[in-house]
Amino acid sequence: MTDSKPLWHGRFGEPPADEMMAFTSSIGFDRRLASDDVTGSRAHTKMLRRVGLLSADEEEAILAALDQVAEELSRSTFVFDAEDIHTAIEARVTELAGAAGAKLHTGRSRNDQVALDLRLFVRREAREVARRVHALQDVLVRRAVEHPDVYLPGYTHLQRAQPVLLAHHLLAHFWALVRDVERWDAVGDRADVSPLGAGALAGSSLPLDPDFVAGELGFAGRFENSLDAVSDRDFVAEALFAAALTQVHLSRLGEEIVLWASEEFGFLVLHDAWSTGSSMLPQKKNPDIAELARGSAGRLIGHLTGLLATLKGLPLAYNLDLQGDKEPVFDAFDTCTRALVAMTGLLGSAEFVAERMQAAADTPAVAATDLAEHLVEQGMPFREAHAAVGALVRQAADRGVPLEELVLTEPRLGPDALVLLEPGQAVQRRTTPGGAGAKPVKRQLAAARARLEEQRGRLDR
Ligand code: ARG
Repeated sequence: MTDSKPLWHGRFGEPPADEMMAFTSSIGFDRRLASDDVTGSRAHTKMLRRVGLLSADEEEAILAALDQVAEELSRSTFVFDAEDIHTAIEARVTELAGAAGAKLHTGRSRNDQVALDLRLFVRREAREVARRVHALQDVLVRRAVEHPDVYLPGYTHLQRAQPVLLAHHLLAHFWALVRDVERWDAVGDRADVSPLGAGALAGSSLPLDPDFVAGELGFAGRFENSLDAVSDRDFVAEALFAAALTQVHLSRLGEEIVLWASEEFGFLVLHDAWSTGSSMLPQKKNPDIAELARGSAGRLIGHLTGLLATLKGLPLAYNLDLQGDKEPVFDAFDTCTRALVAMTGLLGSAEFVAERMQAAADTPAVAATDLAEHLVEQGMPFREAHAAVGALVRQAADRGVPLEELVLTEPRLGPDALVLLEPGQAVQRRTTPGGAGAKPVKRQLAAARARLEEQRGRLDR
């Protein structure tokens, strides 16, 4: 802990206990906000000059000191020796700029300052996560394009249900990620409100100009209520929700990769560079990325529920409980980003085993619904058709007779219906909009590409 006095030493006759500072200080993690803190302080300084609270010389001295701090941060020579990042930077500015530096904190509290820093961080990083989501979407579309004809069983209850094109399956994950990008956009928008000028909780008697600061920092607007400005962490909760849900999507994708890469399924062969070995079992090739993506979802859900629990009992306005928002946010952004990047690498390089997928989808019972629909086309009520085909499947199973044989000898089915059981037939018959067959998937792919382009345009802006 630092030997220097805390910012608030004036009120105290005794120095703070080391053990207290060890518990209350946040420098260990909020150093991550250093560059945002500098950015906020630059805008605050310019505002103080504009409203006449700083002279031109003072402004210049403070801005030069902030430049020096930024330089030290980029060279990793900045000394993080204070209870939090705000104090550390202000102390260094005061060291560098002398008397002018002591004016930096005019009209400002760490309460509005930390809210500002975190909003700058979330606004920027939400965009970064969205870019990573987009890269994964890109790979899903590419892999779908590479495998236009491959099909596999679609499952419900993890029981083979109806065949679907691999492209259709991959694109199912794509659309979930589209919604994630939309959510990350919204997270960025929610953070896009400047809280600076709220002070500790009630504004100031000094002629501050919060609108100027908001404009200077490119915010869409400023706070309306100073109490709300310093105690609102909704934007953090929303970021944690977006992270948790993105991670849940990665988890579901991860679960399928784990299944598909198993010898039992054998649908997927992982690239050596994107899988891991066992310390004891020489034959193993493990889907560690997929498992970790799946496992981390639990922790990220915990971050969201943890913050909500922290917030639920807090009276207005700022309480130090809020200091606990940062570690979960940093972890959520880091974990989600790393998982997205790794899953993108895994999916971009894995080999899909078409023969295994198709063999699993070509078991005749997977076409049972088509047999029932064939009967429906001849005027049979669906419920009756369902029972008739169900009975055939049962007989086949009970008597050990191939379903094909029973279909052929069943008067209402016969050779016309037998065609439906031929390999690859059932998937071709999924023709309805948004369905799993070639025709609708072609249209879906075009829609996916258009959406991808539109999102790219927005992310590049
Ligand atoms: N470290 C604090 C946080 O992360 C900054 C604000 C502290 N305010 C205070 N009055 N102690 O929220």
